[in-house]
Amino acid sequence: MTAKRWIDACHFGDCRLLMARMAADGVQAHTVVTSPPYYGLRSYLPEDAPNRQHELGLERTPREYVDRMVDVFRHVCNLLVEDSTVWLRQLVVRIKAQCGKNGGGQAVSMTVAAVTCPACGAPMRRIKGSRGYFWGCSAFRDGCRATLRDVDGVAVQAHG
Ligand SMILES: C[S@@+](CC[C@H](N)C(=O)[O-])C[C@H]1O[C@@H](n2cnc3c(N)ncnc32)[C@H](O)[C@@H]1O
Ligand SMILES: [Zn+2]
Repeated sequence: MTAKRWIDACHFGDCRLLMARMAADGVQAHTVVTSPPYYGLRSYLPEDAPNRQHELGLERTPREYVDRMVDVFRHVCNLLVEDSTVWLRQLVVRIKAQCGKNGGGQAVSMTVAAVTCPACGAPMRRIKGSRGYFWGCSAFRDGCRATLRDVDGVAVQAHG
């Protein structure tokens, strides 16, 4: 296979598998734009879908989610040329992919970025309440009562 077959076409499947094949075929990317599933919000597939086990976002813990995201962005890193750009839409975490000269597998780090309020967009703050930590909206004084659950320091939107 050649890199050409990947260009100007849609490819469906687990992004990690697809990116590994792209790398093997010599694909080089200048820009990546992605919106991975947020952690613990929803499934995009029916329960009996064959690809369901590969679906991102349904991991048991935030740690597992972060580990899988890091894996995804290692694959991204392997495709990027130097001076490339990654656009990432992510609710809870921002992934900072720093590519070394040879594509960077080792040099991926992940940092927790500002969490914004799902209701009004103001920054959320981690607050210690009587029943443990939770995340509250910094626009509380302006009337926003939005909260998020805290799981191991990560803000998580409640199901349902
Ligand atoms: C937040 S949505 C982004 C939707 C996208 N912006 C669009 O307009 O179609 C996340 C998408 O990631 C897909 N997804 C989940 N796990 C995946 C995986 N392992 N490989 C590729 N896509 C995956 C989901 O099916 C869903 O379509
Ligand atoms: Zn708010």
